[in-house]
Amino acid sequence: MSLSKNTETKLNTGKKLGNRLSTIDQFILSEYTHIWDCCCDHGLLGMRLLDRKAAPHIHFVDVSQALIEQVKHKLQTHQATSPIESKWYAHCLDAATIDISALNGKHLFVIAGVGGDLTSDIVSALIRGIDGGPSKLEVDFLLCPIRHHYTLRRALRRLGCNLKREVLVEENRRIYEVVLVSYQAENGSRKDGDNDKALDFEGATCASAARDNDLLDNRTAQESDSLRPISETGEDIWCPVDMRQKEIACRYLHSLIQHYARMAESGSEDALQKLKAYQGIAIHERY
Ligand SMILES: C[S@@+](CC[C@H](N)C(=O)[O-])C[C@H]1O[C@@H](n2cnc3c(N)ncnc32)[C@H](O)[C@@H]1O
Repeated sequence: MSLSKNTETKLNTGKKLGNRLSTIDQFILSEYTHIWDCCCDHGLLGMRLLDRKAAPHIHFVDVSQALIEQVKHKLQTHQATSPIESKWYAHCLDAATIDISALNGKHLFVIAGVGGDLTSDIVSALIRGIDGGPSKLEVDFLLCPIRHHYTLRRALRRLGCNLKREVLVEENRRIYEVVLVSYQAENGSRKDGDNDKALDFEGATCASAARDNDLLDNRTAQESDSLRPISETGEDIWCPVDMRQKEIACRYLHSLIQHYARMAESGSEDALQKLKAYQGIAIHERY
C-alpha cells in the first residue's frame, strides 16, 4: 500500500480521518506507553488511536476548555456503549507545559495542524522539561506543521532531535510535511550543535535509498528506521517511492521555490538562504 492512496478511515465515533491525519496515524507504531495528541482540537486523531489501542495511555491536550469539554463528553458517551481499553485523559493545557517527569515509559508527542513556529516553541519547551527531569528519557515527536517547515527543522536540529521518518501528504490541495523525530535526553541538547557538524549539506540526498520502498506497511517497532540527523530542507520527502509521491514532491518543491523567491525580492537574507537551499534540491526516484 502506498502513502499516496486516499486512506480515509472510519472511526468508531462516526467521524472520518482525512489523508493528513490518516498518514499521521499510520506513522504511529505500537512502541509507546503514552501518546499525547497535543493541540487536539476535536480529538479525531486521539480517538482513532483509542479505537486501535495504539498505546496504554492516550492523552488529549488543548488550550481550549470548550474543546476539551467536548472531547471529554464524546469519549464518556462513547464509553457508555462500548468500552475503551486504553486509558484516556483530557487535559486543558498549553502543550508546552506538559510535565512527563512522573510518567514512566516511552512517550510520543503528536503536534499537527498548528504553525511551525508554535510547533517549535512547544517542542523546545518539552525538551527543556525533559532535560530538567530524570535522565535517559527517550521521546518521539510526530510533527505536521502548517508552514515554516524550514525554521522548524532548523530548530529540531539545534535541539538535538534525530530523524526517524518523513513523508509528504496532500489534503484539500494543500501539501504537508509529516516528520517523525526522536530525542534522547542523554545525547540530545546537551551535545547541542552535533547535528550541525554531522550534516553539512542543504540539498537532499538519498542516504536511505536502499531502504524498503514501502514506508509504512508491515512494520513493527523493532524494524523502525535508524536515526539520522535532520535536514533543514528534508531528505526522504525528495526521494519519492511512486509516481504519485513524485508528482506531489515536484509541485511542493516548485511552490517552495516560488514562495521564497517572492520573499527574497524584498531583500530578506533569510529568504534568500532558504531559496538557495530549496533550489539545490534534486528529486531522486526510489521506484
Ligand atoms: C487547527 S487545530 C489542529 C487540530 C488537529 N491537531 C489537526 O491536526 O487537525 C489547532 C488546535 O490547537 C490548539 N492550540 C493552539 N495552541 C495550543 C497550545 N499552545 N497548546 C495546546 N493547544 C493549542 C487550538 O485550541 C486548536 O484547537
